[in-house]
This record gives sequence, structure tokens and C-alpha cells, in this order.
Amino acid sequence: MDLQSTPQGVVAGSIPLFAGHPAHELLPISTVRRLVDSMWSQPDVVRLFNYGDEQGNRQLIEYLAARLQRSENLPVCRENLMIIGGSTWGVEMISHHLTGPGDTILVDAPSYRDALHIFRDAKLDVQPISIDAGGVNVAEMERRLRDLASVQRPPKFYYVVPNFQNPTGITLKRERRQAIVDLSKEYGFDIVEDDVYRDIRFVDDLPPSFYALSGGEKVLRLGTFSKTLAPGLRIGWLIGPAETVKRFVSSGMLRMGGGANPFTAAIVADFCSSGRWEGHVAWLRNQYKLRRDCALAALEAAMPSSTRWTRPEGGYFIWLRLPENVTVDELERGAKAENVYFASGKGFFVDPEDGAHHVRLSFSYVPLEDLQSGIAILGRLIKQLEGR
Ligand SMILES: Cc1ncc(COP(=O)(O)O)c(C=O)c1O
Repeated sequence: MDLQSTPQGVVAGSIPLFAGHPAHELLPISTVRRLVDSMWSQPDVVRLFNYGDEQGNRQLIEYLAARLQRSENLPVCRENLMIIGGSTWGVEMISHHLTGPGDTILVDAPSYRDALHIFRDAKLDVQPISIDAGGVNVAEMERRLRDLASVQRPPKFYYVVPNFQNPTGITLKRERRQAIVDLSKEYGFDIVEDDVYRDIRFVDDLPPSFYALSGGEKVLRLGTFSKTLAPGLRIGWLIGPAETVKRFVSSGMLRMGGGANPFTAAIVADFCSSGRWEGHVAWLRNQYKLRRDCALAALEAAMPSSTRWTRPEGGYFIWLRLPENVTVDELERGAKAENVYFASGKGFFVDPEDGAHHVRLSFSYVPLEDLQSGIAILGRLIKQLEGR
């Protein structure tokens, strides 16, 4: 098997600090291979070649419900859960079912780029709210809600990545989560909690999820195996109020589609039920923490004092604020000439100019040596640009 083949968007031989993918060596390829091999001997293997349940693989739903009950004491049962083809599928499905063209929604500024693309495709009025080191600015959100209410444009939902946010790595503080749950009840909007990095944490505890704080009311929470197994499996899950899950499960696409990716869902179900997933996640946390530490040390060594960056407690990303007189466009040009690629801050804002001095660095994909040398190159370029 060619482990060198590069994933989507990665130029061979470059240092792709933009890539929010798991590194090749962190993918559980041999375990998946063994699980697939053992599937052939199961008497009902042919079932996997057919359409599946609309709600998704039952074994996986039962496993996830039990895990959520056990690890977070969440009152989640089968009716609150469905399997989806990755978290992004969930974002698309939610915006399709909960909004129509022209409807207003709230997002963080910055926010996950691909969700912004989905909202743009759906022709939504996307209202950004600024964030700081503790997450979204609640006072600003409240002011915006009042303004929107006064012109009869209340938001349908607030989309948020609460833990180790993409792109900043920031975790939303507990008090702010509670305040937002209160606002959602007062102003009648839903909360879409895209919690894809929850299991990649380098700390013991996380603030309770929106789903936990609200008792499951008016919250849709998304999870994925993309970050803790492999994105190519395209399996994630959604939890929410039973009537919303029922509505999604009986929607046109799922009625026809026979559930999300039944074949790979069966592999993931076996991975989880055999106890292997928990062990793999524990191992991954250490691996990603090593990478995060390496990236932070490299930044400390390479960057001028005028550059600022976040210190994420989990996830894949670090967010850099460039010196005032250095733009991300000029840094990008210089870096490209040296074969280093990063994600420009501009892609993560509704108004791209808000990200003109920001860079997202991913520590999930490149080997440690490349992480160090890529960051050293960026540090040198930033110093040169700053000193012009
Ligand atoms: C916030 C967020 N949501 C969703 C995804 C994609 O998840 P999936 O592969 O499950 O669609 C990512 C991956 O980059 C992400 O950062």
C-alpha cells in the first residue's frame, strides 16, 4: 500500500501546514484491514452490500448512546441519535431543513470555512459575532439578537465549534455556553454544536456541551470519526431532540439513500464495539499533544515578538496574528516560493478582509521535522516582511 500518496489539496514534496487531516501514520489502516477481513466470514455479510436503515447502523447507534450516557451522563437514547456521512453532511442537512434562502443565522468570526461555504450555498444571511480567548463575545451576541428582533429577522440558529475551534483552537468558556443557552430560549433560536474535536483533547476536562446544558432542548450536536479514525470512512453522528431526528431520518434523501454509508458504518461499529476505538483515541491524544507541543516550541523559537498565537488544549489548529504591517497575502506568496503552505485567515470570515493578518497552522498532518522547519521558514519570512 502506498502510504506516501497525498490527500486532497496537498502538493507532493511541500510542507502543507494547511492540511487539517490526520497524518498517515495516525490512521488505523492495519486494524481496519483486519476488521474487513473478518467481516467476510460473517454469515450475513451480504447485508452490507445493500441499503441500510435510514437512521444508520444500529450497533453503532447503541454504542454511541451508551458512550454518551457513560462519559457525559447525557440522557441520550436511540431516538436522539442518527448516523450521518460525516459532520459536514450534518451541517448541510441542518441548514437544508431548518432554514430557507434569506434566513438569518449567527456564526463566530472566524468560523469553520466549509460550514460558511454551505451557508453561502443555502443563501443564508450569515451574521458574524467576534470571538476572544474565551470564545464568542456574548454581549455582542445579545446586542445583535436585539437588533435582529427589532427588524423581525431573528436567527434560525447559532453555529459553533465549541471545543478547540477550527480555525483558532479556542474553547468556549462554560459561563458563556450557559449564557447562550439562556439567550437561545429567550430569542427562540437553535444551537448547532459542531463538536468534531471533543475527543482530541490534551486536558482532562471540558466544559459541558450545549446539549448537556440545555437538557437536549433546541440543540443539535454533531460528532465524527474523521478526526479519531479516518476521514475517508465518512461516518459521523448527530444527536438532537427525538422529533427533529425523526424528521431528518424520514427526509427525502435518507428515505432513498438507505442510511449513511452502511458498509463503512459496519466497520466503524466493529471498531468501537470491540473496544479498540477508545484505546486508539487515548493513543491519538498523546500523538497530537506531542505535535502541538512541537509546534508551540517552534513558534516560540521562530516568531518575532509582534506575532501572537493561540495555545490550544486540543484539536488540530493554532491561529496566528501577524504584525500590523504584514499581510497574509504577502506571507502566502513568500511561503509558496519556499514550498510551505498554510490556510489564509481570509477564508474563515464572512468578510475575508477581517482575516487579512491571520494564519491557521495545522499540526495534525506533517511530520515533526516539517512542522519545525515550516514554522522556522514562516518566522524568517515574517521578520523580513516586518523589517522592510
Ligand atoms: C469544525 C469542523 N466540522 C466538520 C469537519 C469535517 O468533518 P467530517 O469529515 O466529519 O465531515 C471539520 C474538519 O475539518 C471541522 O473542522
